[in-house]
Amino acid sequence: MTEQKQQWGSRLGVILAVAGSAVGLGNFLRFPGNAAQNGGGAFMIPYFIAFLVLGIPIGWAEWTMGRYGGRKGFHSAPAIMGVWGKGAFARYMGAFGVLIPLAVYFYYVIIESWCLCYAWNYLQGGIGVSPTADVATQVATSKSFFAEVTFSESDGFLADGQIHQSVWFWVITSVINIYFVFRGLSKGIEKFCSWAMPAMAVCALIVLVRVLTLPPDPTNPAEQNVLSGLNFMWNPDFEALKNPQTWLAAAGQIFFSLSVGFGVIINYASYMRKKDDVVLSGLTSSATNEFFEVALGGMITLTAAVVFLGLAATKDNTGGTFSTGFFALPVVFARMPAGNIFGAIWFFMLFLAAITSSLSMLQPTKAFVEEALGVTRSVGTAIVAGVAILGNLFVLWFSKDLVALDTIDFWVGSVMIFVVAGVQIVCFAWITGLDKGLKEAHEGAQMRIPGVIAFTMKWISPAYLLVIFGLFCWKNVPGYWANLTWDEAQFRTAALEAGTEKKLEGAELQAFVDKDVNTKLAAQPATRLSWGVILGTIGLLMATTAVGARRWRAQGRDLDGLYPPDDERGAKPAGQGALR
Ligand code: ALA
Repeated sequence: MTEQKQQWGSRLGVILAVAGSAVGLGNFLRFPGNAAQNGGGAFMIPYFIAFLVLGIPIGWAEWTMGRYGGRKGFHSAPAIMGVWGKGAFARYMGAFGVLIPLAVYFYYVIIESWCLCYAWNYLQGGIGVSPTADVATQVATSKSFFAEVTFSESDGFLADGQIHQSVWFWVITSVINIYFVFRGLSKGIEKFCSWAMPAMAVCALIVLVRVLTLPPDPTNPAEQNVLSGLNFMWNPDFEALKNPQTWLAAAGQIFFSLSVGFGVIINYASYMRKKDDVVLSGLTSSATNEFFEVALGGMITLTAAVVFLGLAATKDNTGGTFSTGFFALPVVFARMPAGNIFGAIWFFMLFLAAITSSLSMLQPTKAFVEEALGVTRSVGTAIVAGVAILGNLFVLWFSKDLVALDTIDFWVGSVMIFVVAGVQIVCFAWITGLDKGLKEAHEGAQMRIPGVIAFTMKWISPAYLLVIFGLFCWKNVPGYWANLTWDEAQFRTAALEAGTEKKLEGAELQAFVDKDVNTKLAAQPATRLSWGVILGTIGLLMATTAVGARRWRAQGRDLDGLYPPDDERGAKPAGQGALR
């Protein structure tokens, strides 16, 4: 027996659920880190270009493909992409649309549990950062609390025979996620998002108002004020635009943040009704995400960090990964009046933002397992929960320097999103064809997709994606590959070259080389194992896709290609279903 037909309860419900999926740690931690590292205001230019050229068009394609798939009774990326991509190749590529949410969940929920742990500790009186210490001491205390929560100093979180507090927070967080996914779409995810999204906005606004009204600290240099924080975010340093890394980071951020190319929207949209609008809804949830990301995430974190840490330290301490936000902001809270309360509100808000996203990572996998294997909702939830927990345990265990987390985040959370997004837009605009795709998008639509975006879908998005993805691989993959496969001698040669370039000499050069080589060698086993986990998960999903395809075909379902349009089947008069 398969799950009963599920649907969203209301239009607002689906918008909030998709926006909830989009608004997450990416908005509040990854975005400010990326912006700080890539020239502040200069980052915003490629960022908005990527939003218009990739985020909006590919997002609309995903909404449309998903809703259409739902009409065929399909809810998983492999089945739906097989239909739009007319065949097995697209179907197996669709398996990556399940891999991404599932494997991102492996680490994302762990970061989510850190947020809950931080919020709890702030409620209990803070995390030990002294308000009167100098910034360097505060950052050091904050880093050591972070290391304690994340086990980033050694592998094997249970090796000392104790269950540390952050493990309990992971257990609580996992239970909440699994419970709401089990409850189902409208009673679980939709209900949770419909109170969590407004609650999140209120919490974030409280912190934003606090940050924007911060009085200048008399002990700080004069240039560390709110205006210089805003200036850093909004005044472009055009030099940074010459660096391809700025463009890559911006495109990656758009995908991660909007949950586009993620395999999530295609699943969520599949529970909509045929005549439910996808165009305006897609735009509304993307706009909501941008409000949270730019107006709240960026303005809070960057401004506060500049005021309290200064520009140089902001660039240093608000790095591109999730973790650095955890040690920069506590310093800010320590220096702020009533900082513990604001710290608790901030981290609880992060926790809510993360949970509405992590729910959206479990749901596509659950839908896939149910429809490919034909199991009930309970069995589907149990399988997904089992795999997710194993993935979490792996990331928790290989916690030293967060190698497992970073490896999965890089390969799955960055590289593979480009691939899925590329396959989606090609299936939509080329294989099925733009005209059919737009016709389907406009069914029940409350606004038209502008001609310029339609043109972008066909030509500019694929070309932009190709260039950006090529650049991304060229800049990043060789380094990662080397770290995975090289041996000590090659690391030593490379480190020697890097040290010489930095003009280091003698003992300093030796120390640099030793540190670099040791770090890379220490990371290698966990990096290789993380690769094993990624490949193993891909294998499992491909096999499940094969089982599913056989089963769907045996049920006589039309797997490859769109139904003929309704008007050609005579179901309703021609012209109906056009735009209104
Ligand atoms: N879109 C989610 C985020 O931004 C994954 O965190």
